Amino acid sequence: MRTRTEVYDVLIIGSGAAGLTLALRLPDDLRVAVLSKGPLQEGSSLYAQGGISAVLEETDSVEAHVRDTLDAGAGLSEETTARFVATHARGAIEWLIDAEVPFSKETRADGSEGLHLNQEGGHSHRRIVHAADATGRAIETTLEGRVRASEHIDVFEHALAVDLVTGHRLGHPDNQCYGAYVFDAQAGRVFLAPARRVVLASGGASKVYLYTSNPDGATGDGIAMAWRAGCRVANLEFNQFHPTCLYHPQAKSFLISEALRGEGARLLLPDGSRFMDRFDERGELAPRDIVARAIDYEMKRLGSDSVYLDISHRPSEFIREHFPTIYDKCLAYGIDITTEPIPVVPAAHYTCGGVAVDRAGRTDVGGLYCIGETSYTGLHGANRLASNSLLECLVYGTVAADDIAASLASGDNTLPDIPDWDESLVTDSDEQVVVSHNWDEIRRFMWDYVGIVRTTKRLERAKRRIDLLLGEIQDYYGSFRLTADLVELRNLAVVADLIIRCGQSRRESRGLHYNLDFPFRRDDEGARATVLTPTPPRPYRRRQGGRIDNPVEDPF
Ligand code: FAD
Ligand code: SIN
Repeated sequence: MRTRTEVYDVLIIGSGAAGLTLALRLPDDLRVAVLSKGPLQEGSSLYAQGGISAVLEETDSVEAHVRDTLDAGAGLSEETTARFVATHARGAIEWLIDAEVPFSKETRADGSEGLHLNQEGGHSHRRIVHAADATGRAIETTLEGRVRASEHIDVFEHALAVDLVTGHRLGHPDNQCYGAYVFDAQAGRVFLAPARRVVLASGGASKVYLYTSNPDGATGDGIAMAWRAGCRVANLEFNQFHPTCLYHPQAKSFLISEALRGEGARLLLPDGSRFMDRFDERGELAPRDIVARAIDYEMKRLGSDSVYLDISHRPSEFIREHFPTIYDKCLAYGIDITTEPIPVVPAAHYTCGGVAVDRAGRTDVGGLYCIGETSYTGLHGANRLASNSLLECLVYGTVAADDIAASLASGDNTLPDIPDWDESLVTDSDEQVVVSHNWDEIRRFMWDYVGIVRTTKRLERAKRRIDLLLGEIQDYYGSFRLTADLVELRNLAVVADLIIRCGQSRRESRGLHYNLDFPFRRDDEGARATVLTPTPPRPYRRRQGGRIDNPVEDPF
């Protein structure tokens, strides 16, 4: 049984677009470990459809991309971050092309071949680089091949990071990060992964909602671990709801890409009439917060289970060529999108807030970085512009790799003694059902009370419930041996609490946070990010006989 791994220079928690980019951008004289809690490919990156935004045409400009990002962000995106990311987009795409990601191409009027660019909501220009409607799969599988071929990178699959090892936890005055405790989901045991630098690249937290476009692993583990380790988090009230997920009793979490609307797809009520023009002059191509809220409003007004997205007026060959994945998936459910409209509903899609980082992806904890959807860089503000997420993963994966390499070359890289995980004080659970019930309860009340439309009362109700559950889960966690579900539940509860607290402190409506009791945007006190600061983590306590406490007994 493994109790610890070798000491790595860099431990990357997460193997999506952010984690794999960072791994491949590090110098190959460093020893690197990549953890994924399931199979390496599994994560939101694999399912990304629309593509990556980048200014590649002369008629477009970085300034226009920055403006679109700030517009979508509803006054809370940081302009310097938006400009930084937009400026580095071309380099990120060139790096992916060099890695041989098979992006869709087109033959231009002059006979030359170039990348085909999609249009999406909120973009003033066609600038979405894509691989048909399965861009994430093309990127993830290409990067996976490169990582697996790299001798200096070790991959640990089914390896679920439980908590970070930090100086404060070890009783040191400084709060440097020294690795993580990791649950081997196949062996059912926790091992220590010591490392000189640690990177959280563990994706978002949309699984905190009952209905989501995200795969199962999006439980906000990185945000919860960072919070427990002493990092500030920001803007978690801004969870993005994608307007169009497939509505079908057997379909789970299947997205219908915004790129369909970019190619002219229309949103329809059950009676076949269009409605988006009543909500925004950009119609179906308004930013996502506006479209999702309009759909939510119409569904509630009519008492209907879904609205419809119709692209059947486009030639069927065009639809099959541009959207093969969506065409096949819908057909499998008996919906032929070349001839009939698709039933769609909004679902939780993207965590715009996250762990506060600087321009190099550094967190408040020494040696701990955070990139990708787990992080809050300031790019997305109160609402993310479509296809800016993969871009952020690539850009911050690169700058964080550079910073890590430089800091390892110049810093003190010795590691202290770290205790092994101690399970001597816990037993096997006698009531596993508590875990599944709490999961369901959190996800349902978050959907009902902290969803697309909120009120002060709904937020208060949610807060009362999460306070109760946090106590119950902590008690359970301190008493029983770990399971993967328990680790995720504990994180889900922490992130739900942080979302509610951020929502309660914003006394206005802006972007993705819409509160009926404060329906207006306030450009005085509202024009600031919501930042939460944790209490400093307590050291592990020592028990009789000098034994280190089981770290599971620590408070949230
Ligand atoms: P992910 O790709 O989600 O990867 C997270 C990784 O962390 C996984 O490897 C997981 O195993 C690992 N992990 C998590 N917790 C732990 C733990 N405790 N221990 C160990 N490992 C852990 N964005 C765009 O820009 N364009 C698009 O077209 C687009 N389409 C999308 C379509 C769908 C259906 C979805 C769900 C999202 C889409 N997005 C899109 C958003 C974008 O895909 C994600 O924001 C982005 O891929 C996140 O990448 P990531 O590397 O941060 O995390
Ligand atoms: C989509 O294809 O609609 C998703 C794009 C995104 O989330 O950026």
